[in-house]
Amino acid sequence: MNISDPGVIALAPVDGVTDAAFRQVTDELGTPDVMYTEFVTTEGLFRGRETLLHALDKHKTNTPIIAQFFGPHPAFYMYAFFVAAELGYAGIDVNMGCPDTNIVKKGGGAALLLDLPRAKEIIKVLLTARGEWLNGKRLADTDLPDNMKRAVEVIKKKSCIVNLASINLRGCQGSNVMPISVKTRIGYHATQVTEVIPYLIEAGVDRIALHGRTFDARYSGKADWAEIAKAKELTRGTNITLWGNGDVTSITDAKDKMKTYGVDGVLIARAAFGNPWIFKDYHPTFEERKKAMLYHAQLCLQYRPDLD
Ligand SMILES: Cc1cc2nc3c(=O)[nH]c(=O)nc-3n(C[C@H](O)[C@H](O)[C@H](O)COP(=O)(O)O)c2cc1C
Repeated sequence: MNISDPGVIALAPVDGVTDAAFRQVTDELGTPDVMYTEFVTTEGLFRGRETLLHALDKHKTNTPIIAQFFGPHPAFYMYAFFVAAELGYAGIDVNMGCPDTNIVKKGGGAALLLDLPRAKEIIKVLLTARGEWLNGKRLADTDLPDNMKRAVEVIKKKSCIVNLASINLRGCQGSNVMPISVKTRIGYHATQVTEVIPYLIEAGVDRIALHGRTFDARYSGKADWAEIAKAKELTRGTNITLWGNGDVTSITDAKDKMKTYGVDGVLIARAAFGNPWIFKDYHPTFEERKKAMLYHAQLCLQYRPDLD
């Protein structure tokens, strides 16, 4: 399946979980249509923190992977764009939903829901970076610290570069290269769907992934899929794709939600923990589970020998 086809079922970004090893196991045993990386701090990239790049390590695959970034400073997203593009990621995503106190108090993650002009500025930086990329500018031409440029080259040699042009990115307004997306929540204190969705569309995003909870709710209660459906309605007549997220427990549930709420795709996070097969609707034997666990552990050591 193509990244922009209707009916996409994706592995959601999960910090501390969807690292390269987890994605490889999930891809090989479940093959989601799309996967996200864990989020990466844009400021950390600029400050030259090489270890951050482990989150962008990548196995050889044709499954599109979207690189996700967070942070409140629009200017730093330029580096994020060129790093992700250089590494052959299938898109770049802005985290606008993380409720972590350390991130929110600095103005990133869900705090962007309270500062939409800042979110718009971030998207503008990404749109500009994409224009520059299309005109031939590369990571080497930026002033990202040299140690980071070298570290990106090391990862690039290891990973398979997806032929971006081969991915049909329907729903991408300006270009068919590196769609710019946002993953957010339905609101901060209360739902803001009717305010936020038109704002993001106007800002020029290509895709929105919406978790059906507010910041205040964190992970409690139930995801509000009626609000997600409302958001999808607000994208009608535009080229923007809208993926829904929250409490999906199985492929059947994902398909039901797409049908009931009209979204173009669904993200699965927690239900994929320890269950890469969820994307295939396969129920493994005990022996298969054991093998997968050992394989996952081996991959962890392979990707991060420094943590041995
Ligand atoms: C431990 C944990 C870490 C998460 N990390 C991220 C993240 O890095 N980026 C992001 O956009 N969402 C993150 N999320 C949110 C999930 O992507 C997802 O929106 C949420 O868990 C609801 O989906 P689910 O009901 O399928 O789990 C995280 C969630 C959990 C539980």
